Amino acid sequence: MDICVVGAGYVGLVTSACLAYLGNQVIAVESNPERLHSLQSGGVPFFEPGLEEFVKKTSASGNLTFSDNLTAAVQKAQVIFIAVGTPSLPNGEPDLSQVMVVARAIGGALDDSKRRIVVNKSTVPVGSGNWVEMLVSQGVAKAQKSAKETVPASSGRSEGPSFVVVSNPEFLREGSAIADSFYPDRIVVGSIDEQATAVMKNLYKPIISQTFEAPSFAPRPAKLETVPFVVTDLASAELIKYSANAFLAMKISFANEISGLCEKVGADVKQVAQGIGLDYRIGKAFLNAGVGWGGSCFGKDVSALMQVAKEYSYPTSLLEATVAVNDRQRLVVIKKLQEELKILKGRTIGLMGLSFKPDTDDLRDAPALTIAYQLLKMGASVKAYDPVSNDVCKTLHPHLDIVYAADVEDLASDCDALVLVTEWAQFKKADFKKIAKLMRWPLLIDGRNALDEDEIRACGITYRGVGC
Ligand code: UDX
Repeated sequence: MDICVVGAGYVGLVTSACLAYLGNQVIAVESNPERLHSLQSGGVPFFEPGLEEFVKKTSASGNLTFSDNLTAAVQKAQVIFIAVGTPSLPNGEPDLSQVMVVARAIGGALDDSKRRIVVNKSTVPVGSGNWVEMLVSQGVAKAQKSAKETVPASSGRSEGPSFVVVSNPEFLREGSAIADSFYPDRIVVGSIDEQATAVMKNLYKPIISQTFEAPSFAPRPAKLETVPFVVTDLASAELIKYSANAFLAMKISFANEISGLCEKVGADVKQVAQGIGLDYRIGKAFLNAGVGWGGSCFGKDVSALMQVAKEYSYPTSLLEATVAVNDRQRLVVIKKLQEELKILKGRTIGLMGLSFKPDTDDLRDAPALTIAYQLLKMGASVKAYDPVSNDVCKTLHPHLDIVYAADVEDLASDCDALVLVTEWAQFKKADFKKIAKLMRWPLLIDGRNALDEDEIRACGITYRGVGC
């Protein structure tokens, strides 16, 4: 199938590469010249395990190309994905300006040669399917008007190009984006148009029936035979995306709230999480207590959901509590530092990890930034080491007065305490005996409950976890 994906950011690039791998002809349209140039020369402008090699491979097969010519890509395609960014505005609403520009441009580029399916892959508020349809129609009308002005006798566009808008939310996680795309828990398509639904089902058939050859670096999970293909109306598909992320965020906030109570009564949140997670109705995943959730999705999606509810004067007490618990949770490690060190002014605190989770260089809404700002405000010096995002942090947050370390031992040198913020695998394998000797004061606050506390204590380091 001929596919056009507009926007070669995180979601767009992973979607493009996976669909190309499955045998489709994909043109990924990128308007940012630097990013386009980097992609055309085999680079991937962000860190995602395995993605650069995968993109190179699919490009070399001839199935994936990059372009800034939206019109040509749209005209060739049967299915057009909108995968541009929808970052949060200061009031919590998503900034839909890129979707607006792209939807109108797609309308302007459509011709009468075939019926197109415009797929909303960007995370857009409930009701955006209708809105995107309106924008595409506006683009069509504008193009028809200017065609008539240029060639008054032309009747080529009089019927109008045929298109339908569907919603196809993504659920991929950073750090495991390719595996999540090939082996999703479900594929959701929001559409009441039977032909569009059939085309989408056909496009995803190799994933639904798991008939494609698994890439060597992303093996198929044992026992996975089929992936549910869920067809809903447009608004329900849009709401599924938000509700899924809000539920996961709420689950983590629940574990975090319970972790505070565990500390009061002398319980261990890891044991509590295991005990409740074994109930299949609850499930084990996303119950890890710590410094809380961050990233580009959870905060943005929860606040977008609250904004939608506000339009209907509908109260969202659970969502508000989810955010409030998370905000409070980020500072729990600072409280623990105060309990141990008493005075933080003049102390040197080393942050292990900066990215919002391991295996990504993404610093969006990263708990480490909140913790660093707060420590600096309290008069402490902050050192940090992240295996991949030191440079990203330096560039994006030049005013954050952090001393960046070259490795975890360099980080530990002369620190009064270490705080594990991101549970990178390499931190679990660190030489804590050596680290203990390098520190001014051997204290470690494990903000993710990720380390072996007995091993750390055996090295002479005071260990404090969260909720235990
Ligand atoms: C999320 C959703 O999982 C994905 O389906 C969606 O499409 C995009 O948003 P992502 O933001 O990549 O994915 O990260 P995820 O793995 O979900 O983790 C989000 C945050 O929650 C991270 O900061 C992580 O450290 C934190 N987390 C996760 C916890 O604090 N505890 C947990 O138990 C799990």
